[in-house]
Amino acid sequence: MASQENRELTRYLELTPKSRAKWEEARNYLPGGDSRNSIFWRPYPVFLTDAAGCRVVDADGVERLDFINTMTTMMLGHGPAPVMEAIRGQLERGVGYNAPNEHQIDLARTLCQRIPSFDLVRFTNSGTEATLNTLRAARAFTGRNRFAKVEGGYHGTHDGVTVSVRVDPARAGNPANPTPVPASAGLVPGVTEQVAIIPFNDSEPALRILEDNAADLAAVIVEPVLGSVGMVPARAEYLTMLRDFTRANGTTLIFDEVISYRVAPGGAQQYYGITPDLTALGKIIGGGLPVGAFGGSREIMELYDPTNGPTVSHAGTFNANPLTMLAGSATLEQLTPEVYRDLAELTEELRQGIRGVGADLETPLQVTGLGSLFGIHFTDRPVVNYRDIAAGNAGLRDRVFLGLLNEGILMASNLVGALSTAITRQEIDSFLEAFHRALARNIAG
Ligand SMILES: Cc1ncc(COP(=O)(O)O)c(C=O)c1O
Repeated sequence: MASQENRELTRYLELTPKSRAKWEEARNYLPGGDSRNSIFWRPYPVFLTDAAGCRVVDADGVERLDFINTMTTMMLGHGPAPVMEAIRGQLERGVGYNAPNEHQIDLARTLCQRIPSFDLVRFTNSGTEATLNTLRAARAFTGRNRFAKVEGGYHGTHDGVTVSVRVDPARAGNPANPTPVPASAGLVPGVTEQVAIIPFNDSEPALRILEDNAADLAAVIVEPVLGSVGMVPARAEYLTMLRDFTRANGTTLIFDEVISYRVAPGGAQQYYGITPDLTALGKIIGGGLPVGAFGGSREIMELYDPTNGPTVSHAGTFNANPLTMLAGSATLEQLTPEVYRDLAELTEELRQGIRGVGADLETPLQVTGLGSLFGIHFTDRPVVNYRDIAAGNAGLRDRVFLGLLNEGILMASNLVGALSTAITRQEIDSFLEAFHRALARNIAG
């Protein structure tokens, strides 16, 4: 029934008139009223004005619990004291220099000590630049051109990886042998020919595709937890298959841990015990400021060393700026193994609670995730890859998302989320009560 959707929508419109006015004003100058398509939702997104701990406040003064934390970035919540102190301390000393600053050494040392695949690391301003560089380095290192990526895998906005992301299954061919589908207009011609698309978590067909393309694959890039598209962890045997294939064929294995670095202090690679050749990072390692990083074996990363040549070009005015480096180090200092463990336990309680709500309301749903990451999918089939995600009830998902906003909960619009250490059992209970009400109101459609 459209009527419930209309009631949910009516309530949203009542709660958010100032956001609506700001969005309409913004559209005069910004296409769609913003600079990130990934955070647009219908009828319009709320504009946020304040954030502290686990709470965000919108332009109308509506407070919500933050269960997405800037697309997984704010693992300590908003405004954690040690990070704020580090940023404030640097403000008077300059926010960017045209010469190296020492703060990047501390963050680089921490990452190299924690992440199994890191001998050396370079910083960027985004995860997009990080994955771009891992692929460029792999091409330079192997002398090959093409690469393989997972259907549904998101690696940022550069052309090469903007293929088969949130693809319409009707256009994507056989799930066991997916057709590469451009995820944007305006990509460089030939971009789909440069990439082989493999299914996630299905080793046999994926291996067949990899073997068919083995001779010209520079790299295989994979998110160990399929992230923004649905928070679906890899099966260990799938990652093992990728590691074995790449090792046997002189292909570079790249883990995109921009989101999955939340899983353990050494990333998902530590959790699974599988070490890639290169790793891309972003999000939490900058303490909330713009950041990315890529690193890996000395052999490959030395291609970036200007004292050797360099072979691979890499620049960026704001790379490793002192504010980001200090905020990142202050964040990682807080992120002890115990913090990861406690947050993972609390998130597991949340996942179980959501399943309980689904059972109580007799609504088929799947809850995915690993560590402090979770995703909700309205489907009765287990969710292990992109096609399973795409088979979910999108109408119900959209209504529940709006319902959660009306109930004072912020998630990503496809119902993926990430906890912060600012969230306690009390907020988990609030979430579950809100989810119960929002789902109960919207099941009927
Ligand atoms: C797995 C993954 N890789 C790369 C990126 C791109 O990072 P950024 O948005 O910082 O460019 C993202 C962003 O959400 C991501 O989730």
